[in-house]
Amino acid sequence: MTPIGLFYGTDTGFTEIVVKLFQEEFDLVAPHLLTVHNIGDTPVTTLQQYDHLIIGCPTWDIGQLQADWDKAYNALERLDLSGKQVAIFGLGDQYGYPDSYCDAIGILAKKFASRGATLVGFTSTDGYEFTHSEGVENGRFLGLALDEDNESDKSPGRVSEWVWQLVDEFDLVPFLEPA
Ligand SMILES: Cc1cc2nc3c(=O)[nH]c(=O)nc-3n(C[C@H](O)[C@H](O)[C@H](O)COP(=O)(O)O)c2cc1C
Repeated sequence: MTPIGLFYGTDTGFTEIVVKLFQEEFDLVAPHLLTVHNIGDTPVTTLQQYDHLIIGCPTWDIGQLQADWDKAYNALERLDLSGKQVAIFGLGDQYGYPDSYCDAIGILAKKFASRGATLVGFTSTDGYEFTHSEGVENGRFLGLALDEDNESDKSPGRVSEWVWQLVDEFDLVPFLEPA
């Protein structure tokens, strides 16, 4: 059992590319920290097995969740996630959909917080160009926003920086020490 479960959904595969970046980065931090699940073929109750969750969801159909997360959404209501830490990353197209950029981050952030989870991994909006996002609160993203449509070259750096932020906020230091 790894300390972190990463659950993602994808329609056209961009999120899967980013998930590979997460796997590579966590392998550099320490092997066996992360287990990856596609929410499209994983029971929602599996989320409860982990103390630390990374949730990945692109925004689709102008401000909506990706299809598999949309299907899972109501079942999230039945989870007790108290004591869990949740970090959310989203993919979106800031130039194509500037009024709903990465809205899914905000939709899921609200839902996970309502199930008792503590949200971590907030990031700056500096360097992005958009007009509105449900994923922004008090001037910060409630997670990590990525844009594979326009800035795939920035994703490795953004993922790497965020992973190290999570190592700190998830308090993974005990898992880094040699056995
Ligand atoms: C019809 C359509 C609607 C979209 N709506 C949004 C949106 O509202 N906000 C946003 O940030 N991105 C939006 N996107 C962009 C996708 O989120 C982006 O392409 C993402 O990388 C797709 O991830 P996936 O390949 O993992 O499904 C939309 C794309 C399409 C084709």
